[in-house]
Amino acid sequence: MSVIDLQNRIKKLLEEKNAILLVHYYQRAEIQDIADILGDSLALSIEAAGTDAEIIVFAGVRFMAESASILSPDKTVLLPREEAGCPLADMITVDQLEKARKENPDVKVVAYVNSSAEIKAHSDICCTSANAVKVVESLTDAGRVLMIPDGNLARYTSLHTDKEIIPWGGYCPVHHFVTTEEVEAVKEQYPDAQFAAHPECAPEVLEMADFVGSTGGIIRFARGTGAKEIIVGTESGIMHQLKKENPGKTFVPVSDKLICRDMKYITLEDILDTLVEMKHVIAVPDRIRAAANIALSRMLEVS
Ligand code: 13P
Ligand code: SF4
Repeated sequence: MSVIDLQNRIKKLLEEKNAILLVHYYQRAEIQDIADILGDSLALSIEAAGTDAEIIVFAGVRFMAESASILSPDKTVLLPREEAGCPLADMITVDQLEKARKENPDVKVVAYVNSSAEIKAHSDICCTSANAVKVVESLTDAGRVLMIPDGNLARYTSLHTDKEIIPWGGYCPVHHFVTTEEVEAVKEQYPDAQFAAHPECAPEVLEMADFVGSTGGIIRFARGTGAKEIIVGTESGIMHQLKKENPGKTFVPVSDKLICRDMKYITLEDILDTLVEMKHVIAVPDRIRAAANIALSRMLEVS
């Protein structure tokens, strides 16, 4: 089947089944093009919490589909490829978190949404890269804040708050390995360009950025900036939307290694199969869901 035929069949089935297709900016271009909602993790969580659709098809990774299911337990949430995970989310276990809590009984725990449902259930509040500072600032009674699992997001957040932040040691294997040498090399080639980076990059790379923000933030920055050339410090999938929205601007990836294998698993064929067979349902056990919902809902209230 051609790409257009696949896209049309998916659109028709979505309508027939009262389903909505939520798509993250890192997904393949042909999937982004048929999204009902295309967004960053925060925008997609807000949409999942408020949609009237009966079925949510999530073109993203497991933690995103789990969050949708936690926020909308009466909906059927489908993740077209069950193995699409997030290595960063796996960099903390509940036992490790509980040990850290015992060692630091005064801390509040802020869980990046890139974490398992169980980790969210053991946290005080969630955050995304779009609202991390706001979430931390909302914890008015907290002395110290343990931010899990992404150490880079924690260190970046600590620059924008007076609260003491304890960073966990996790990292995104896609963003963390961007080097300052790579940034310098592209800046040399494009001396007038502005550099926009995701807060999952290392601190020394973020120091070189003109803008730091979530994927949705980078999209808005690109729209608004007067610069004609933009160096992009986040996963390659975002290039599609950046180029589509800004035909007069040039976008240059800071590194050709910025590809998230997990985000690329899902194909149009997988989405079609999932919808036809109603398979790969993501459900979170009630015991975990209730507590995780508190942490996620607190975040949405702050946002
Ligand atoms: P955003 O929240 O910016 O969409 O990022 C999600 C993610 O997985 C970044 O690697
Ligand atoms: Fe996880 Fe990094 Fe992939 Fe985002 S880019 S889903 S943080 S591995």
